[in-house]
Amino acid sequence: MCGIIGYIGDKKASDILISGLSHLEYRGYDSSGVALMHSNNIDVYKAQGKLINLIEVLKTKQEICEKSNIGIGHIRWATHGLPTTTNAHPHTCNCKSLTLVHNGIIENYQELKEELIKTGCIFQSQTDTEVAAHLIAYEYGKTNNLLKAMQNAVKKIKGAFAFCAIHKNEPNKIVVAKRNAPLIIGVGENENFVASDIPAIIEYTKKAIYLSDYQVGVVQKNNIEIYDDLGNLIPNKVEYLPFEAVAISKMGYKHFMLKEIHEQSDVVRNVLSGKLISPLENIKLDECKLSQEKIKNITRVQIIACGTSLHAGMVGKYIIEKFAQIPVDVEPSSEYIYRDTIADENTLVIGISQSGETADTITAIKQVKEQNSHIAIITNRTDSTMARLADSLLPISAGIEVSVAATKSYMAQLISLYLLAIYLMENKNIQAHKEEVINLKQELIQLPNKLESLLENTDDIRRIAKKYSSYKDFIFIARGINFPSALEGALKLKEISYINATGYGAGELKHGPIAMLDENMPVLAILNTGIVYDKVLSNCEEARARQAKLIGVTNYIAPKDKDLFDDLIMIPSVSDLMSPAMNIVVLQLLAYYIAEYLGKDVDQPRNLAKSVTVE
Ligand code: F6R
Repeated sequence: MCGIIGYIGDKKASDILISGLSHLEYRGYDSSGVALMHSNNIDVYKAQGKLINLIEVLKTKQEICEKSNIGIGHIRWATHGLPTTTNAHPHTCNCKSLTLVHNGIIENYQELKEELIKTGCIFQSQTDTEVAAHLIAYEYGKTNNLLKAMQNAVKKIKGAFAFCAIHKNEPNKIVVAKRNAPLIIGVGENENFVASDIPAIIEYTKKAIYLSDYQVGVVQKNNIEIYDDLGNLIPNKVEYLPFEAVAISKMGYKHFMLKEIHEQSDVVRNVLSGKLISPLENIKLDECKLSQEKIKNITRVQIIACGTSLHAGMVGKYIIEKFAQIPVDVEPSSEYIYRDTIADENTLVIGISQSGETADTITAIKQVKEQNSHIAIITNRTDSTMARLADSLLPISAGIEVSVAATKSYMAQLISLYLLAIYLMENKNIQAHKEEVINLKQELIQLPNKLESLLENTDDIRRIAKKYSSYKDFIFIARGINFPSALEGALKLKEISYINATGYGAGELKHGPIAMLDENMPVLAILNTGIVYDKVLSNCEEARARQAKLIGVTNYIAPKDKDLFDDLIMIPSVSDLMSPAMNIVVLQLLAYYIAEYLGKDVDQPRNLAKSVTVE
């Protein structure tokens, strides 16, 4: 949520800042700004709306841009105050000496603001960030040292932050600090970078220092110093960044979302690689640090996640309960943290998060960690805060996901959960369902090819998307293991097309939502051959009787039932257990093509951000 970039070196800072912000646009995009240092002056330029507006502003300031080799930049997702130019970062102190960008939320900003007003500070914006600018400047007044001013200021601040500050009296440095918000320092040759996420700097360097909570750093052109919470200088720990620059290109696709949907067969291959060798061999999951004895003692599993990751967890519940025979609760992290949850050393807690930075999930995991439960984290970011809290870290290795709407990371989470469920079962030596598991493993191995065949011809889905794109509401229904697919399909549609879509367990339709049905409310039903097929079909009849338009997504339909549907999308033959991984691709594509047809901003839908770092 929000993006930070900083540069110090010999190159034109504005170019690097804009390029960095363009790769962070998925984190927030309602306003942006840069501060450029040149010969002991700092110029700040900001714009409301998309980054392109800031680019236009900078085009008129080329003389300054040419002169500046040091700068900081920010792209905002508004929390405090409207997304206006005034509220955009960077923020400055009253004498304009100090300028700063910030990610996170300062919880005690009101209190600090009142104290600062008493010292004569005049506030321009409605943001919490401006408080930090005035506070650090106030501390600078006492110390004449930007490092010390930052160290003193962060001690007074409550909440989450990543700060990046420059001061015109110290024109050769950027000072950074962080707590509960990610910040990395990119290490270059005669230049260094600061960023809130890897994509911003990966085209310039593959080496970085991950700043830890409570640390403060001083970044210069040829030197980086990191200080711990006590103010001691500590050795720099340089790590190699896990991404290639090519991963953040669209590779000819119109949108990242479409590219990422098409990457899903390879994503499945990656997740399975080295873990599922053949249907007759046990799953190898070295990342799971639970001993066999510990696994046998697990009495319950709690899955904690948000949004799309939560839906993956709901599929995980079906598989884990069925095969590992352990009761599973799945709960949104934002609810988990506000009650007295019951967990102990025999509880396996699974946190699922693409970004590994979702604030609610981090809080929930920290909370349950105190109860000595084993924490397994399923994430796409092994460098994230959540990854660092894991007892067992299960990377999904989906490659960087740029589109705000999660697609391939969902697929990778699903497959990781299938592997984990079978691994738990095999380590508990459970014999029930053995044959079914051998078949499931066979299907997992075949899944990438089946996904490829589904993705080869999407004409039907495009046609249906166009046909239904003018409807204002949708209902998605399914039962059993595909109930989460209905929720996820509806979420995808509303996220990127802004069409009101709701997912229901098909059996729930008649308990209320059926009142909504008429010819203006299309119903999309997922019905796979399996124990709930006939039941979902009956629910479709109920919808049809209310004149709702019916779209079926299925691997089989009896000729006599075909006429029930206005449109049918057929998926390759697959078992009920494996079908969530196929059905979801259809629903992702349907949402994508509807949004694309409506001309929506598919990769950066309004009001959303890729990484939700506020509770
Ligand atoms: C939907 C989407 C969100 C995220 C949710 C959790 O497309 O991306 O619903 O799934 O914000 O994010 P992570 O998985 O990063 O914890």
